[in-house]
Amino acid sequence: MPDTLLIKDSRTNKEYTVPITNDTIKAIDLRQIKVKDDDFGMMTYDPAFMNTASCHSKITYIDGDKGILRYRGYPIEQLAGKCTYLEVAYLLLHGELPTKSQLDDWTYNVTHHTLIHENIKKFMDGFNYDAHPMGMLVSTLAALSTFYPDSKNLFDAEARKLQIYRLIGKIPTIAAFAYRHHLGQPYVYPDNDLSYPGNFLSMLFKMTEPKYKVNPILEHALDVLFILHADHEQNCSANVMRSVGSSQADPFVSMAGAAAALYGPLHGGANEQVLRMLREIGSKDKVPEFVNKVKSGEGGRLMGFGHRIYKNYDPRAKIIKETADKVFEVTGRNPLLDIAIELERIALQDDYFVKRKLYPNVDFYSGIIYEALGFPSEVFTVLFAIPRTSGWLAQWEELLLDSDQKIARPRQVYLGYDARDFVPMEKRG
Ligand code: ACO
Repeated sequence: MPDTLLIKDSRTNKEYTVPITNDTIKAIDLRQIKVKDDDFGMMTYDPAFMNTASCHSKITYIDGDKGILRYRGYPIEQLAGKCTYLEVAYLLLHGELPTKSQLDDWTYNVTHHTLIHENIKKFMDGFNYDAHPMGMLVSTLAALSTFYPDSKNLFDAEARKLQIYRLIGKIPTIAAFAYRHHLGQPYVYPDNDLSYPGNFLSMLFKMTEPKYKVNPILEHALDVLFILHADHEQNCSANVMRSVGSSQADPFVSMAGAAAALYGPLHGGANEQVLRMLREIGSKDKVPEFVNKVKSGEGGRLMGFGHRIYKNYDPRAKIIKETADKVFEVTGRNPLLDIAIELERIALQDDYFVKRKLYPNVDFYSGIIYEALGFPSEVFTVLFAIPRTSGWLAQWEELLLDSDQKIARPRQVYLGYDARDFVPMEKRG
């Protein structure tokens, strides 16, 4: 006997039996619930998708109450401790960890798609000197679509593979060029001898030396940060990637949309806001006053705290805190860390935050490490977008291959005027 949900409509006294699969009911099964035969039928109202599953997925699992995050079944702690980012990107996209030869092949292909067309470099030059690197990244991603018309072959597996190499390969180059443009420094071309994070550091920080010397501790720390940010199931930007992708737009413009969503301060833009907030607080002794302001509503939100899904410590924040110690051994301690630790200590004891289950999220400590690695706060969200590319692409490909999916098109509950007659200008007001 399959599981079912029995629904009784008090308006009509009619009963309906709706099948339950994987603890969910299909929203479309509610459509049969009507008062009159010509009614549209029952819908669910769920602004911000608080309780709606928009897809079946096999990529990332989160248990927000327990603070669990897994990619393809593997705990994030094990992946961050034992893998490279490129290995994790392969896992997200292919479903299994690569063998040695698969990883070599994957690394070769990603590495050999890192160059961008010279014309892209030219139009990046056209941005104002103080253009935000995320604005540059979003527009450049969209513009890539015009360089790769073959990316419209969405249902050709080989064509998709090529766009995946291109996007994972080129995003660090675009990000680094946006950063160098911001500083007015010449662009540094990719160096194929270096690892994925090592090459990114070289494109960012190389000056006149013939070869950039990568610090292995910082290279590893950046790789760990990349792993932690690679995917997070149906978050705001992944939902945009799927939503734009559902119209069968190419992956470059779909990803521009996803990156735009990431830019917002309530999503990937929060790490930049955390640093602004910590600087504004200024010293440890000012933390209690700041927390009181947040609670009274005068001080805005405590950035880097709270999460739609995690109602426990974000497991990524824990790993970042540990990674920070290793980075600080090389770079020296970032004084903002002491303010952050004090803020966390006070908030986690405060009834306001305890009651609402507000814990540090991934953005709370990531900005502090990024700053120690030498990044200005404007590029923090770009650093998030680089690894999230593999997650967005995995979500996009899963969507395209899912026969349940169609163009995304939510319904609305219309509460506006009923039909009324046009009012000529002289009779208005
Ligand atoms: N500081 C103070 N109060 C908060 C915070 C916060 N950071 N986050 C939530 N609250 C309060 C809300 O005011 C609300 O209180 P109320 O019940 O008295 O009205 C309650 O907690 C629930 O908050 P919601 O906004 O309903 O929770 P939601 O799930 O919609 O929001 C979000 C999640 C957007 C992440 C929120 O916690 C927030 O704004 N945090 C700060 C921004 C941030 O760090 N974003 C990064 C998220 S991680 C990521 O995207 C990578």
